[in-house]
Amino acid sequence: MSFDVKGKIALVTGANRGIGKSITEALLGAGATKVYAAVRRPESAADLVEKYGDKVVPVACDVSNTQSVNAAADTAADVQLVVNNAGILRVKGAIESDAIETLQEEIDTNVYGLMRVAQAFAPVIKKNGGGALVQLNSLASLRSFAQFSTYCASKAASYSITQSLREALEPFNVKILSVHPGPIKTDMGDQVGFGDAADSPEKVAQGIIDALAAGEFHLFPDSMAKDVGAAYASFAENVVESEMSVA
Ligand SMILES: NC(=O)c1ccc[n+]([C@@H]2O[C@H](COP(=O)([O-])OP(=O)(O)OC[C@H]3O[C@@H](n4cnc5c(N)ncnc54)[C@H](OP(=O)(O)O)[C@@H]3O)[C@@H](O)[C@H]2O)c1
Repeated sequence: MSFDVKGKIALVTGANRGIGKSITEALLGAGATKVYAAVRRPESAADLVEKYGDKVVPVACDVSNTQSVNAAADTAADVQLVVNNAGILRVKGAIESDAIETLQEEIDTNVYGLMRVAQAFAPVIKKNGGGALVQLNSLASLRSFAQFSTYCASKAASYSITQSLREALEPFNVKILSVHPGPIKTDMGDQVGFGDAADSPEKVAQGIIDALAAGEFHLFPDSMAKDVGAAYASFAENVVESEMSVA
């Protein structure tokens, strides 16, 4: 099931900076007619509006707040592609103090945020004749790192939910794409100290457009991610993406 972004109307959560901003610009570059920049503070998307005019429409959307996400879905009622990019990372190991509270906070944004977005926007996409939902997961969805293990746990959970969305929504013509970047040069990447090894957010953005066109479920966009993706390929194909019934 492939999806061409040309001529489509999209919404990107966390569009104001980092990977989300690159995705917004790449979608417009690939011919999307309008992108809703779904951000906590609409004024934070002002530079995108200045650059792209009415092709970028800021809409208030805090993915940790159900009412806010539902209101954004009411506003963006013509959307066909939703990219749930918004996420947080706290540098916290599982045995440090406050690790449980930190994981709860990360789950609220990274996991319940995805569920809020899917619950609010799947009916909209279906009503508009089908489309796609893209979720920014991570290499950390597949492999934990002790330095920020609570984040890794939240990204493992969001990957699990993404798999279930594929099963639940693709029969209704809603394509699901699970994106697994490695270290990317953004504020989040700087916070973890990724340094020069980090790849560019533009590579993730272009990878999403290409993977949607190719109809893929998993995307490993950057150089480190591609290595992991190659090692994971057999499990992905034979287990995650296989037809498997338990009932
Ligand atoms: N950078 C990496 O190395 C890397 C690797 C793998 C996966 N990822 C994932 O890629 C996504 C984007 O990461 P990034 O590196 O671009 O991060 P970033 O530079 O920290 O930007 C995070 C974005 O998410 C938004 N956001 C956070 N909480 C939100 C909420 N409750 N509601 C709405 N928006 C919210 C932020 O908005 P504000 O400006 O309002 O804070 C910001 O736009 C995340 O899901 C991240 O987990 C990143």
